[in-house]
Amino acid sequence: MISPLGDFHFPDAPSRLYPQTPERPWVLEIGFGDGRFWPHYAATFETAPNYLGVELSGVSLLKAQRRLKNAGLDNAILTKLPADVLLREVVPHGGLDSIVVNFPDPWPKAGHLDHRLLRVPFFEQAASRLKPGGAVLLTTDHDEYFDFACAAARDSGVMNVVLTEPPPAALETKYALKWRDLGLSPQHARFTPTAHPVVPHGDIHPYPEDPDLVPHAILTLPADFIPAAPGQPFEKRTTRAGGWTVILLDLYASLRRDGWVALAHVVEGELTQEVLIGISGREDGSHLVRLAKFGGPIITPGVKAAVGAVTDWLEESGGRVTHRGY
Ligand SMILES: C[S@@+](CC[C@H](N)C(=O)[O-])C[C@H]1O[C@@H](n2cnc3c(N)ncnc32)[C@H](O)[C@@H]1O
Repeated sequence: MISPLGDFHFPDAPSRLYPQTPERPWVLEIGFGDGRFWPHYAATFETAPNYLGVELSGVSLLKAQRRLKNAGLDNAILTKLPADVLLREVVPHGGLDSIVVNFPDPWPKAGHLDHRLLRVPFFEQAASRLKPGGAVLLTTDHDEYFDFACAAARDSGVMNVVLTEPPPAALETKYALKWRDLGLSPQHARFTPTAHPVVPHGDIHPYPEDPDLVPHAILTLPADFIPAAPGQPFEKRTTRAGGWTVILLDLYASLRRDGWVALAHVVEGELTQEVLIGISGREDGSHLVRLAKFGGPIITPGVKAAVGAVTDWLEESGGRVTHRGY
C-alpha cells in the first residue's frame, strides 16, 4: 500500500498502521529503490515483520509496490518522502526494531557531504526511534561513505558500531547486483543505540475534521477589490521566517462562487508541500481565507504561514482582517 504523508498520524502507531499484525517487529527501509530487499529479507522470518519503506523516486515506488504485492507482503507500507521527515514526524519514540539502508546515494563530491543521509543528526534520530536492542543496518560498496558513516555514528555518542557480514538479502538488491558485476564487494555495519535521546516530533498535524481548526482568516475586502488587473499575471510573493519559506505562486478565479484560490509552495527543511488556499465570499459580505483539503496537506508552521501570507496580501490590498485563525 502506498501512503502519502497526509494519511499518517504524527506520530503514528503500529496498531493503526498494521491493525492485523500490530505485535510483529517493525522494520523501516530507507531508499528501497525497486524493492528487491524486502521480499528476500522478510522470507528469513517465520512471519513477515511490519514494513515501512521510504523512497524519493516515484517510479521506484510503483515498481516496489508491484514486487511486494506479488510476494503477498500485505503488512507493508510504502511512502514517497524524504527519510528524515518520515523518521522525525511519523515514527514514534522507540517504535522500530530496525532501520535498513542499502547502498545509499554516496554524494562523493566535497561540497555535497551535507546531502548524505548518515550523518550525526540521523544517528541521534535513529537512536530515539529504535527500540532497545534495535539496530541500523548499513550495507554499501562505497568505502569512503562507509567510513564516514561509521565515524558519524561514533561521533553521535549514542551508537555502538559493529562491522560484520551483510544479510544475504542486502546482496540481492539492484545496486548490489550492479556493483557485484563491476567486481566491487560491499561492507556492512550494524549500529546499535547505547542511549535513546528524546528527539522531539515537530509541530505537525493532519488536516482537521473540524472546519474551525483548519487554518483560516476572515476579512472584509473593499467593494471594488480585484486581485490583479485583467490580463496581468499574478506577482509572485515570497516570505521567509525561521524554518519555513512560503512562495505564493499563482491565483485562480473561482467560477462557482465569489472568490479565488491561491497556490502556495511551502518549504520546511526537506519537506515541501504545494497547497491551495481558498478566498471565498460569505453570506454577510466578508471573505473567508482557508486552507483547502485538496491534495491532502498536513498542517505545519509553514502551511499556517501560507494562510497568513494570503491574508497579509489581501490586507495590503485594502482588506480589513476581523479574525485570524492560524
Ligand atoms: C543508490 S540507490 C539504492 C537503491 C536500493 N537500496 C538498492 O540497493 O538497489 C539509493 C536510493 O535512495 C533513494 N533516496 C535518496 N535519498 C533519499 C531520502 N532522503 N529519502 C528516501 N530515499 C532516498 C534514492 O531515490 C534511490 O532510490
